Amino acid sequence: MTSEEHIERTFVMVKPDGVQRKLVGEIISRLEKKGLELRALRLKNLDIETARKHYEEHKEQPFYDHLVYYITSGPIIVMAFEGFNAVRAVRQLVGATNPIEAMPGSLRGDLCLEKVRNLVHAADSQEAAQRELRLHFRSEDYVTQMRQR
Ligand code: CMP
Repeated sequence: MTSEEHIERTFVMVKPDGVQRKLVGEIISRLEKKGLELRALRLKNLDIETARKHYEEHKEQPFYDHLVYYITSGPIIVMAFEGFNAVRAVRQLVGATNPIEAMPGSLRGDLCLEKVRNLVHAADSQEAAQRELRLHFRSEDYVTQMRQR
């Protein structure tokens, strides 16, 4: 393990289009196949206040209201994944924000077309991951231990 490799926890959300299109299994499968471990998962509807907090950094953007409206329009999945350099690893697997620019092989590159309905959200830094995990999970939501046989 080099000094650049360390175990991190990151935040991932399957957006309403992903749940509606029944792509939850595919998304989890790709992250798990990479070697990332699922530590927490909830299916829920996001309330407007939490959605506004989640996307706070975009509040001056012209698409902010639409983004909040969209993300609260149907059920989402929130997840915590853990692994070596998990933040960067997940961002690579998810692909660029604009699905047209996302590399083939990435989730957005393969599975969606639109910027707002872009399937998945993943934290873009360790600081964002901490903030988003705190916003969406309580400490008792995490499952960290395998029972020994
Ligand atoms: P996400 O990874 O959830 O983070 C912020 C979201 O804002 C992003 O995915 C897109 O869904 C959305 N977004 C970013 N840029 C634009 C844009 N120029 N127009 C519309 N939506 C955008």
